[in-house]
Amino acid sequence: MNADIPSPTPQRRRVFLSRRFPTNVEQRIASRYDAVRNDSDIVLSAKRLAQQAQGCHYLFISAMENINRFALESLSPALQAVATLSVGFNHIDMEAARELGIAVFYSPGVLSDACAEVAVMLLLNAARRAYEADSMVRAGAWPGYAPTQLLGIGLSGRRAGILGMGRIGQAVAQRLRAFGVELHYHNRSRLSPANEAGAIYHNTPESLLSVCDFFFICAPGTTGLTGFLNRERIALLPAQAIVVNVSRGDSIDDDALIEALQSGRIFAAGLDVFAGEPNIDPRYRELPNVFLTPHIGSATVDTRNAMGFLLLDGLEAFEEGMTAENQLC
Ligand code: DGY
Repeated sequence: MNADIPSPTPQRRRVFLSRRFPTNVEQRIASRYDAVRNDSDIVLSAKRLAQQAQGCHYLFISAMENINRFALESLSPALQAVATLSVGFNHIDMEAARELGIAVFYSPGVLSDACAEVAVMLLLNAARRAYEADSMVRAGAWPGYAPTQLLGIGLSGRRAGILGMGRIGQAVAQRLRAFGVELHYHNRSRLSPANEAGAIYHNTPESLLSVCDFFFICAPGTTGLTGFLNRERIALLPAQAIVVNVSRGDSIDDDALIEALQSGRIFAAGLDVFAGEPNIDPRYRELPNVFLTPHIGSATVDTRNAMGFLLLDGLEAFEEGMTAENQLC
């Protein structure tokens, strides 16, 4: 228990904070609940989390904690709700939560703009060889301007394909239009013409891949997406395509992508998420044609506050017997 968080009183619900959260969010939690916090800010295993959160009514977690059946069963029946500061909820055993009558809240919508900004940032940096350019200048290895130096790929007139045209995918599309990019997408269901806004629908991911000079993975992380971008699907992409991933790292077969980046079959990649985070495949670090960021899609002060507040609004509605839109079960 941290000194700036009031000590428990019988009337107040007890919340376990699995990580450090933005100050404004922690303050709002402390104003209403008795908070027990993992001050180490290190990802806890399901077992450690279950030990440390014993007796808590709510879990306030990040996308990194594995809230499996074991954790939920160990914390039940005291545990009433899990609130995850993420749009993804593939780290929570939803079936077990439903069975045990534990409510689950997530934080969609408020992070779409921030994630879309990072997706476009990754594309621009990958296409214009930003890692190589920055490294050259920093290393004092810049021989001066040269007409053939660090030639990249421009965006205008090229085709971008978005896998997963939910709120984040649509926010990416909105930004790409300003660059004069032709938009294509695949989604579980086709969008309304108003939401498509001219983007061309493909009824299979394979059809989408074949037209993607720039391929964006924006789909929510689900087990169905694991290993999606494999050798066979990379072979469908046009030569020298660029891959951007802001979804979940395990949607990419790292062996296949690294091989394609090494051979030049894929021009470049911009990656914000990785299988086995933070222990990424070390070969990525050696590749000049990848632009790497450490899972910062939603990492702005305003966005993380908004995500936290959305969860707290959901919990308050829950306490009043209502079901907020961000309550999954
Ligand atoms: C999400 O929201 O799912 C991000 O990946 C983690 O914040």
